[in-house]
Amino acid sequence: MLNTVFVALAILFTLQVFKALHLRSRLPPGPSGLPILGNLLQLPTSRTWLTFDKWSKQYGPIFYLNIAGQNTIVLGTHKAAADLLDRRANIYSDRPDFVVLNLLTGGMHWAWTHADDLWKRQRRGAHEALSAQTAKEYFAYQETESIIMVDQLLTDPKNFLAHFQRVSTSLSLSIIYGWAPVLDSDHPTIQQIDHFNRHVLVSAVPGSFWVEFEYFKWMKYLPKWMCSWRQYAEKRYSRDSVMLEGLSANVQKQIDAGEETTSVAGKLLQNTGSLFEAAWNSTSIYAAGSETTAAQLAWFIQAMILYPEAQRLAQEELDRVVGPYRLPNFDDHEHLPFIRATVKEILRWRAAAPLGVPHRLNQDDHYEGYFLPKDTICFVNIWSLNHDSELYGHDAEHFNPGRFLDADGKLKSSIEDTRDEGHFSYGFGKRICVGRHVANNSLFIHIAYLLWAFNIVAEVDSNGKPELPDPLQCIEGLTIRPVPFHCNITPRSKDVAEVITQAKVERIGEGS
Ligand code: HEM
Repeated sequence: MLNTVFVALAILFTLQVFKALHLRSRLPPGPSGLPILGNLLQLPTSRTWLTFDKWSKQYGPIFYLNIAGQNTIVLGTHKAAADLLDRRANIYSDRPDFVVLNLLTGGMHWAWTHADDLWKRQRRGAHEALSAQTAKEYFAYQETESIIMVDQLLTDPKNFLAHFQRVSTSLSLSIIYGWAPVLDSDHPTIQQIDHFNRHVLVSAVPGSFWVEFEYFKWMKYLPKWMCSWRQYAEKRYSRDSVMLEGLSANVQKQIDAGEETTSVAGKLLQNTGSLFEAAWNSTSIYAAGSETTAAQLAWFIQAMILYPEAQRLAQEELDRVVGPYRLPNFDDHEHLPFIRATVKEILRWRAAAPLGVPHRLNQDDHYEGYFLPKDTICFVNIWSLNHDSELYGHDAEHFNPGRFLDADGKLKSSIEDTRDEGHFSYGFGKRICVGRHVANNSLFIHIAYLLWAFNIVAEVDSNGKPELPDPLQCIEGLTIRPVPFHCNITPRSKDVAEVITQAKVERIGEGS
């Protein structure tokens, strides 16, 4: 009897091994891993995109990882990403299950939810409030915030990173909730929203909690008293949701009082009919947009220090088109192709999210002879695509806005499948960044102001040697920003302060 059980178990085991080997032979190639843990221990703890870039060169445009039981693919070329995430968007637009993140947000932060009906409704509403056309309604906010940013840099240039954080947060609050500019980043509401945001972003980083791993998903069903992660997330949700919903409730009061609101929240409340959904749509937009712009501005300053020729050419254009006696504005947009190319190049050179946000395949699929099982998680290595020398030439590692311009200095037509952006930093398919028009406009006006007003150069050490930052060193999370660095930001002429002060008085009023 024992013998029969033993033989049956041995046959079952052998069949399972054959099944696993057969499945593995149909999956894309990739580094071989350990039993059970798969490739988990091979994942780098920092700059994952560089290791993935190396693996793409070794294994090809699509490679496979088993992350503790989770089927995962990484796409390393523009063709593979566009073929799957754009051309098969119907089945590649889902998101993985973020257990803790969904508890933190009550499942309402739609940038992270499954591609379900709620996501469709929220995305449609966001698209209307942030489309290329509607984004023009926010120009005034963006110009005002740029004035405040350069004014603060005049008096306190060393804290440039803090000013970028402030401008990004304050601008988000103006556009989304119609707030007046917030000059102090210690404002309690800002602190609270940013706190919420940080918790969300941490919980989205793969491996932050055991329950996120495939083999440990059963932990979801443990009673609450056994799960510190559940207690933590539910407690935060009950606290944060009151504050976050309150922000939109205030906008609703203004609408009820007959005060016109052109803010994103105002539009969503008028179009959605549900305060709860509109409030969480606004929160999701705020959370997705506020970190990224500040990070891109910090990378921009590094680029200006490391590539002074690009700075010189941009300033030449500003001097020619705008001149020294007024600040740039959105009417100059058409006439400042080098500044627009600089925006594209900063997003290409250092995308705020080098691995984007993961998508999930929601049915079995085949590609290039490989089998891709349902529920596979798909990463695009945006870094690899943006640094592809076949698309961008031998100097793809370098910052060079000129690559986007033709011989007459006009913007070239864009690279295929980049939706006129010229880079891949806004993601793919039905999940492409819905805030990209607002982001492009903010970067355009902030960069135009910064280069119109200031020379940005490296600090010099006691031996007279410039202290150049290392552009591969970064602080990592889901988004990356440079490790804090020093630089000198000085007005380009004696007229700069006067022009800024005058603009500030006109825009914000006396005594501002
Ligand atoms: C320079 C700045 C920005 C960069 C580099 C960026 C990048 C991205 C990326 C890579 C994604 C994921 C796309 C995908 O899954 O394939 C995304 C999604 C998203 N972004 Fe942005 N973003 C930026 C600014 C903004 C701004 C300013 C807003 C809001 C005003 C915003 C709102 C969103 C939202 C709501 C999503 C989720 C879309 C969805 O899941 O359907 N982003 N962004």
